Amino acid sequence: MLNRYLSNISKRFFKRSIMAKTMNKEYIRTKDSNDKVMNDSNIEEPRIVKDEIEEDDVDITKLRTPIKDLSAVYNFLGARTTQAWVDAAIANVPMIIQDHANCEKKAAGTAMNLIFRYEFSYDLQRKLAQLIREEMLHYEQVLGIMNDRGQAWKYLSAGRYAKGMLKHKRTYEPAAMVDVLIIGAFIEARSCERFAALAEVIDDERLAKYYRYLLKSESRHFEDYLALAQSLSEDDIDERVAFFKEVEAELISSPDHELRFHSGTPA
Ligand SMILES: [Fe+2]
Ligand SMILES: [Fe+2]
Repeated sequence: MLNRYLSNISKRFFKRSIMAKTMNKEYIRTKDSNDKVMNDSNIEEPRIVKDEIEEDDVDITKLRTPIKDLSAVYNFLGARTTQAWVDAAIANVPMIIQDHANCEKKAAGTAMNLIFRYEFSYDLQRKLAQLIREEMLHYEQVLGIMNDRGQAWKYLSAGRYAKGMLKHKRTYEPAAMVDVLIIGAFIEARSCERFAALAEVIDDERLAKYYRYLLKSESRHFEDYLALAQSLSEDDIDERVAFFKEVEAELISSPDHELRFHSGTPA
């Protein structure tokens, strides 16, 4: 009983201190090439409806070249996907599609957990609500692709990737929240980089088109997570970003016995 009382007090104290910080905040720093000023009056409206329309209207020949400028994503990541992973993925497209479906569902689930855990920030709630809708739309779209290909759902265990980063998450607040948001930024950025790599070479027009369509939303998710991490942190997050950059690059570059959407170099 006493433990629960003390825990509630500490939760309330944490929420109040973050709330005060959030309300006093004048800008969200983004880790783009330039710092970008954002406030409640110019938060972008959800673009999900527009994105959905664009997928249907898109001209595949125009999508083939040039690919979206991903320099911000490439600069953020500490390593590029190896040709060996791309080759293995192309040789196992159904498995990659299945794991992609898992990833979309997990992305929505993780964001939903954050929405319940950190209810004090308007920016966080709004961005995550938008992100959940988009991830669930992607999940629905991947399910549709599987259905059209006659691909049955198959259980796939989780790879080492997310666990390999989450084990370094700090255990106290608000550091734990900031770390989860930074990890989210890396997962989104890596997804974006891998969709681009696959779209370049995959011998399936529908998947190539779909992976290009995803680049826009996944690169925005990466920027949103990073901006939230900085805006909700009392300290500069550069050091934590640099730390997770190394951890993530190692997970992507080192030998991995399991092939997954976010796996390392095939062993
Ligand atoms: Fe997604
Ligand atoms: Fe995403």
